[in-house]
Amino acid sequence: MKWCWNLLCSFLLLELAPTQAFVDINMLTALQIHKNLNGSEDPCRNFWNYACGNYSAANGTKYVDNFQLVEDLYAQAMEEFMESEGELIESDLELNEEPAARLLAQMRAYYKACIKDPEIDWSEPDLHSLEPNDWALETAKFRRHGLNAVFFDERVDVETNDSLRPVVLLKMPALSNSYSERRALQVLQRNHSGSVEAISRLVDQLRQLEATHRQEEPLVQSWSLAGLTQHIPEINWQGYFHVLLSGHLEGVLFEVSDVDYLRELGQLLSNASKSTINLYLRLRLTVLLK
Ligand SMILES: *[C@@H]1O[C@H](CO)[C@@H](O)[C@H](O)[C@H]1NC(C)=O
Ligand SMILES: *[C@@H]1O[C@H](CO)[C@@H](O)[C@H](O)[C@H]1NC(C)=O
Ligand SMILES: *[C@@H]1O[C@H](CO)[C@@H](O)[C@H](O)[C@H]1NC(C)=O
Ligand SMILES: *[C@@H]1O[C@H](CO)[C@@H](O)[C@H](O)[C@H]1NC(C)=O
Ligand SMILES: *[C@@H]1O[C@H](CO)[C@@H](O)[C@H](O)[C@H]1NC(C)=O
Repeated sequence: MKWCWNLLCSFLLLELAPTQAFVDINMLTALQIHKNLNGSEDPCRNFWNYACGNYSAANGTKYVDNFQLVEDLYAQAMEEFMESEGELIESDLELNEEPAARLLAQMRAYYKACIKDPEIDWSEPDLHSLEPNDWALETAKFRRHGLNAVFFDERVDVETNDSLRPVVLLKMPALSNSYSERRALQVLQRNHSGSVEAISRLVDQLRQLEATHRQEEPLVQSWSLAGLTQHIPEINWQGYFHVLLSGHLEGVLFEVSDVDYLRELGQLLSNASKSTINLYLRLRLTVLLK
């Protein structure tokens, strides 16, 4: 019984506490909690039924819990904010000072870059051309559609002490990516049986390379693009980031882990055939889209 009362009290507190913050979200949340209550239930007999028993999607109750409601409202507000050209909201919040205005412009630019997906180029590479295999350029083309961490993990953040300074983080793919790898091999076996051997060999080699170099807490190096190119010349970084950022690279800082992995990766992949790289990237993108 004591346990029940504690639970009931925390529930009531949950219901009352938010009324001190922004009114619109909290009113909605309180209403939401109230709507889901089933007053015919004894809370000490079946607390779930008491707290959420009246929830029914059919009756137009959209959320079974209020976290989801708040998250959705937040996402909605964020979307409006990102899509607005900004005059209204910024002047309301007096965010016209130089750094804040620049930061907001940058947030909108990132947002636009994320939601605008360029046409996917599904074409097979020209296998007979004499150009060398530039797997980094090929990887960057797929990265533009959101495919990450196939050969290395690359993401953009901002410096911890300066949110106007972009930082690119580079490291080997996380262990959790092996799931997408396995799925890609399954798709391969179903659809492209002719290429199974070459791709399986590539995937094995990548796995071995990762296993050899995986560390609990790898050392992180901070370099400019020039430093990155100098320390890991095996990868065409200039080309890779040119495809992704169209040359806006001034002042970008690169934080790089797993340097030895990246160097050996460059050697390994420059030796792989163009068509193998292209097909493997297409398989991984298929898995991502699915
Ligand atoms: C339970 O749900 C029904 C239908 O959505 C609603 O009319 C009723 O007011 C709800 N009960 C409570 C206690 O809010
Ligand atoms: C509310 O609880 C009562 C008692 O357990 C139950 O009979 C009733 O079906 C519940 N209402 C809803 C909407 O689940
Ligand atoms: C942030 O830290 C780096 C070194 O870690 C330093 O060089 C830079 O000046 C700092 N930036 C600001 C705005 O403090
Ligand atoms: C793979 O094969 C399945 C069934 O054999 C087919 O439905 C699907 O469209 C194919 N996908 C590709 C990318 O070729
Ligand atoms: C590159 O490929 C050649 C021929 O297939 C092979 O002899 C060589 O060992 C490979 N080098 C690396 C670094 O994988």
